[in-house]
Amino acid sequence: MSDRYPPINPNCPHFLHGGDYNPDQWPPEVWEQDMRLMKLAHCNAMSVGIFAWARLEPAEGQFDFSWLDRIMDLLAESGGYAVLATPSGARPAWLSAKYPEVLRVRPDRGRNLHGRRHNHCLTSPIYREKVRIINTKLAERYRDHPALLVWHLSNEYGGECHCELCRDAFRAWLQREYPSLDALNQVWWTAFWSHTYTAWEQIEPPSPIGETCVHGLNLDWKRFLTDQTTDFMRNEIAPLRELTPDVPVTTNFMGTYAGLNYWKMAPELDVISWDSYPRWHGARPDADLAAEVAFVHDINRCLKGGKPFMLMESTPSMTNWMRVAKLKRPGMHKLASLQAVAHGSDTVQYFQWRKSLGSSEKFHGAVVDHVGHENTRVFSDVADLGRALEKLDPVIGTTVRPDVALVYDWENNWAITDAAGPRHDKGYLPTCRRHYRQFWRRGIPVDVIDMDQDLSGYKLVVAPMLYMVRQGVAERLEAFVRGGGTLVATYWSGIVDEHDLCFLGGFPGPLRSLLGIWDEEIDALYEGDSVAVVAAADNGLGLSGQYEARELCALVHAESAQVLATYGSEFYAGRPALTGNAVGEGRALYVASRNGDRFLGDLYTALAGDLGLLRTLDVDLPDGVSAQLRTDGERRFAFLMNFNAARVVVELGSAALTDLLSGEAVSGSLELEPYGVRILAQ
Ligand code: GLA
Ligand code: ZN
Repeated sequence: MSDRYPPINPNCPHFLHGGDYNPDQWPPEVWEQDMRLMKLAHCNAMSVGIFAWARLEPAEGQFDFSWLDRIMDLLAESGGYAVLATPSGARPAWLSAKYPEVLRVRPDRGRNLHGRRHNHCLTSPIYREKVRIINTKLAERYRDHPALLVWHLSNEYGGECHCELCRDAFRAWLQREYPSLDALNQVWWTAFWSHTYTAWEQIEPPSPIGETCVHGLNLDWKRFLTDQTTDFMRNEIAPLRELTPDVPVTTNFMGTYAGLNYWKMAPELDVISWDSYPRWHGARPDADLAAEVAFVHDINRCLKGGKPFMLMESTPSMTNWMRVAKLKRPGMHKLASLQAVAHGSDTVQYFQWRKSLGSSEKFHGAVVDHVGHENTRVFSDVADLGRALEKLDPVIGTTVRPDVALVYDWENNWAITDAAGPRHDKGYLPTCRRHYRQFWRRGIPVDVIDMDQDLSGYKLVVAPMLYMVRQGVAERLEAFVRGGGTLVATYWSGIVDEHDLCFLGGFPGPLRSLLGIWDEEIDALYEGDSVAVVAAADNGLGLSGQYEARELCALVHAESAQVLATYGSEFYAGRPALTGNAVGEGRALYVASRNGDRFLGDLYTALAGDLGLLRTLDVDLPDGVSAQLRTDGERRFAFLMNFNAARVVVELGSAALTDLLSGEAVSGSLELEPYGVRILAQ
């Protein structure tokens, strides 16, 4: 059966390639040049109007679409498309001046002045109304325009507002969440320090000048912010859906940005998109960073169950806001762009098309530099990539159905980060990435999901540091294991419920019978300290000899679980460091300590073999090389990516593969250039 999604918008069954385009900042002569250059750059999609509200509505209720009409026409005449933005990310000065309630209030309760961007109140009825009006006008005007391809909502939603309207909205939200103030006091554990509330009006969002210690409050405030932002977004979407039901809607996410739980926003969108700005060529090997970027690409693919996403922004050369704005080395532009495609993007888009003349982003990388012509290194890199993307129509809509899911959960991150102890830096995200990296380097595709997703299609679920266990999660994990799945859990799991209240009666709380252990204590180590972990002779998981644990070591008792490794030093020498519990047809493993890469490598090599995990290519990949699969269930496209600054050779064996870009047949020893990438079709 073919497993292929339709193109993002069936009007354009090709890769989208282009960038944020601000013609509102330039005179019409420049627009003509832009169209000529767009073709030369093999670009076909421009993200227009993101920050153009002041040009669209120069005075309240007075609209000027003439310039945008012309741009839309020019795009259509040039065979291009518009990813058309709603302008709520930045507003005209008249709006702030006339309606100060739209200005955001900081956590210290001070109101901002007009300036910058992304700084509106999420609740203000006036702001919502003004946004609704301009969105309606845009949709009415361009609903039948051939250039309109995708709606780009606002820009990088984020942040919080603490104004009276938002505070009231929070209290109303709480009253919907909790049957009574008593119930709220109970789950927020407000008797602590006599913080008991006796009236809803006493509740204030967390603030540096007020409450920060009630963790249930902190969690609920974050949940409210996601809900309120989603509600603001729904208000933006309503007129677009009504007037242009066939035009897909997206908004550009920011990777693992902690301020919003993207899993709650995703259902409102037709297609996911995100902005990727890795700091290539820094102190760490590029391959380390590449694995981290891959992790985020995978989240974006999973947010809609495997549906291709959009790489909405990336830089064609340098990113000016970085401490050091290093240029991408030759090859990296194509590699980083096709890496997004490898993990499920059906677009490669940039910030920005043309460098601006003034203001804070005038030195940010762009396709067209201040020199104004096409004879630049960056322009030719972009055009090369454009030519490559034009050959990738067969990849459109394909995806991957991995055997492995890794759980990275936003709310869990909030709770772990907020907790005082057992260390200041608990390292949740880095830990998830380290587990992920083991699959990445073996070319084993992974879904990165939150704890509420369906687990039934996987063979292996890796859930590092599942500190918070929400209602129903333990039951679903148990059903997964009973049905034959393998679960890898770690230290600092099953500690609190969804309100951040500790589980009583022994950790890991609701996971105790599944994991077959009781976690009695956790030891935190200073930097530089380590504890030995010794593999049991018959562990059956490819572990041998001694390994090193750092930072966190749980002291557990095996109940029904079998001990597969023990600590080899410290006062807890001899106690379990790795356990396995057979449940139903499957097994739940518990890694009690934060072990090094060698341990994870041995463990996952053994599991990959035992479980027969889906691999992109059945070959050993050199260090710094990854392989990622896209398929429709019949044709397979293996993206082979070299993140080393040196040539490498990959031994492909006798598999009959075709290089999709060159059309050549490939087998045997395949050389990859420094930062080289090949797409091999099967
Ligand atoms: C973000 C924004 C863009 C631009 C880029 C610069 O991603 O969405 O408007 O400021 O950063 O890197
Ligand atoms: Zn507000």
